[in-house]
Formats: sequence, structure tokens, C-alpha cells
Amino acid sequence: MRRDIAELFELDPALTHLNHGAFGAVPRSVREAQDRARVRIERAPMRAFRDELPAQLAEAREAAARFLGLPPHSTALVRNVTEAVAVVAQGLGIGPGDEVVVSNHGYLTAGWSVEARGARLRTAVFALDAEPDDAVAAFAQSVTDRTRLVVVDQITSPTALVLPVAAVAAAVAPVPVLVDAAHVPGSLPGLDVESLGVAFWAGNLHKWAYAPRAAAALWAAPQHRESLRPLVTSWSHGLPYPERFDLQGTVDHSACLGIPDGLTAWEQLGGWVQVERNAELLQHGARLVRTALGTPDPLGGIPSAHCLRLVALPEGVATTTESAEALWQRLYAAGFVVPPVAFGGRGYLRLAAAPYNDEDDYARLAAALPALLEG
Ligand SMILES: Cc1ncc(COP(=O)(O)O)c(C=O)c1O
Repeated sequence: MRRDIAELFELDPALTHLNHGAFGAVPRSVREAQDRARVRIERAPMRAFRDELPAQLAEAREAAARFLGLPPHSTALVRNVTEAVAVVAQGLGIGPGDEVVVSNHGYLTAGWSVEARGARLRTAVFALDAEPDDAVAAFAQSVTDRTRLVVVDQITSPTALVLPVAAVAAAVAPVPVLVDAAHVPGSLPGLDVESLGVAFWAGNLHKWAYAPRAAAALWAAPQHRESLRPLVTSWSHGLPYPERFDLQGTVDHSACLGIPDGLTAWEQLGGWVQVERNAELLQHGARLVRTALGTPDPLGGIPSAHCLRLVALPEGVATTTESAEALWQRLYAAGFVVPPVAFGGRGYLRLAAAPYNDEDDYARLAAALPALLEG
């Protein structure tokens, strides 16, 4: 670990943290700013909730939109992408008789969320080493005349691929597309949400943009904004989108208030320069691990993310959810926080690269893996 950078976070120095993507890690400066926001509220809760929070939340929301290159009134604050998916499903009135397309690379909660509303899931299936066109075709072929929504991970959760979202949207039109961009804010350079041709886009600010947990942005195309309502109807009832997402009963708003502090931390950690540095480190780290394991690069024509990358485990290792979980526990006990992933009958490790990682993290993992896998 780069000690000077790791010390800016609260991370346990006894562990090698190679899984920033899962829940992020909040820099100490951001946690302290969040604490100060809580103290300001506690000094005069009545004044805070009635008079101060609406403007402060609007400021945080607009800072999030600016960071994402979006107009101020296009983007609402929600707690996380999981909530954003539920908001979109509610807004579209998805229910029994409807179908929603997800992919075999998608994060599970999106599917569960629409299934909970009685809709049927169809899964677009493509291989880890597929070409971009294969992925687009898989989505297009899964659409039927009952399809109400297509959910596409912009950076896929188990496999860390950067999917060709705009091409998928064009191929499934006029079915609306929701982009699950949980890992995207602060990690995917060149993002231009409005040019993707999608209906909805939701990204977490608490993963790679260093905001406190839980803070996320939900963008909707103009024609869909009116239909979107918070899951809980509260004080902001009657307000227009996106203000109506700001105040939802008596909850702890400090995570959203800390968004500008998270974005400042992202800048101070090096902004896009840091993201490019992490991408190079990750390529190098993945090579070290592959060499130690003697496995080939499992990826094909779909690019991998700057922040996350799969390496293949030897044949027969972590090929099921259960054996991946057992390996996770063994790695964790040895001090390595890195998730094994069972995908398509093969086992992988999903490596991450955050500003606090250095080459030594991957080198030590590479050195430890052969013995750990034998165990
Ligand atoms: C692609 C993707 N979508 C959604 C999520 C869920 O994020 P949250 O728990 O913040 O809603 C994750 C979590 O890692 C993810 O990888």
C-alpha cells in the first residue's frame, strides 16, 4: 500500500485492500466533513431541517451534476444505484406481464428489484471474451414486444467490462435503457451521459468519487423526469424533479451534504491523472498475478475498466459461488481483500486499483496465491 495515501483513509493497515470497487472507502477528510455536517444539524435541528437543508442539498446535487458533466436540473440525488433502479421501475409502472432485460454480467439487485414488482426477467448472455457486437446483439435479441426496460451495466460488476452502452441503446430502441453506472463516477474518463441515447443513468458517488456512503446520482432524459418519484412520499411532495428527491422524512442527510467534500478529495487525490495511473498499475498488477498463476488473459474485445480487472484462476478453482466464497475467506484470513468471482463455469479474481494501492500489493498477492490455492 502507498502508506502516505492509505493514511488519508481509515483503512486497516493490516490488510491489503484490492477491492475498492465493492463499497468504496471514505477518505478521513470526507468523513470529518460529514461529521461536521451532522454537528451543524444537531446544533439546531429545527432550523437545519426547515431552513437550511433544502438549499444545502440543492448545492450538493448541483455539484454532483457538474462533476458528471450534466445540467443542474437533470440529476436527482438518491442513496445508491439500487434505489435508483427501484425509482425507475416505479416511474415506468413496471409490473406483472412486463419483461425487463438484464445481462449475465449485470449486478443482481436490478433484476431482483423488477422481479419484486412482478415483472419477468430476460437475460442477455455473452461471454467474458465476447466482441462488443456480440454484447449488443445479445441485448437486442432478448427484447420482445413485452420488454419495458433494458438495464445495462456501464462497468459490469462481476466482470469489470466497459459495455458499449450507446450501441445497446440504439439496438434496442425504442425500449428505454437504464444504465447501471455504479462504478462509473470518478473512474470512467470521457463520460458523456447525454450522448448515450439512454432514458436513465445512475451512478454511485460513494465508490470512485469518494463521497460518504450512501450518495448517488440519478439522471433521466427530459421526457422521463415527470414520471420519477421518490420511493417514499414526504415533504418534497409536489415539488418538481429533481427537488422532490431531496427531503424524504427525517433521515440522515449528511452523506449527500458530503458530496462536494468527496469530489474535492477526488481532485486532491489526482483527479483523472490518478485514474490513468491506477489503470496502468492495474494492468501491471494483473500481469503479475497471471504470471504467478500461469493463466492467460481472459479478456476479449470489450475493454476492461480503468479501476477493476479480472484475472483467471487456474482451471477448477472457484468455479461455483460456494467455492468462490470459500476462497474469499481463505484470502481474507491471509490479509488479502480481493473477491473471487465464479463466472460462466470458470473462476477469476477481480482486482481493483485505487490511489492507495501500489505494485507491491499485487506482487505480494501473486507470491501468496499459489500456496493459498493449494490450501
Ligand atoms: C454494477 C453495480 N450496480 C449496482 C451496485 C449496487 O450498488 P449500491 O449497493 O450502492 O446500490 C453495484 C455494487 O457494487 C454494482 O457493481
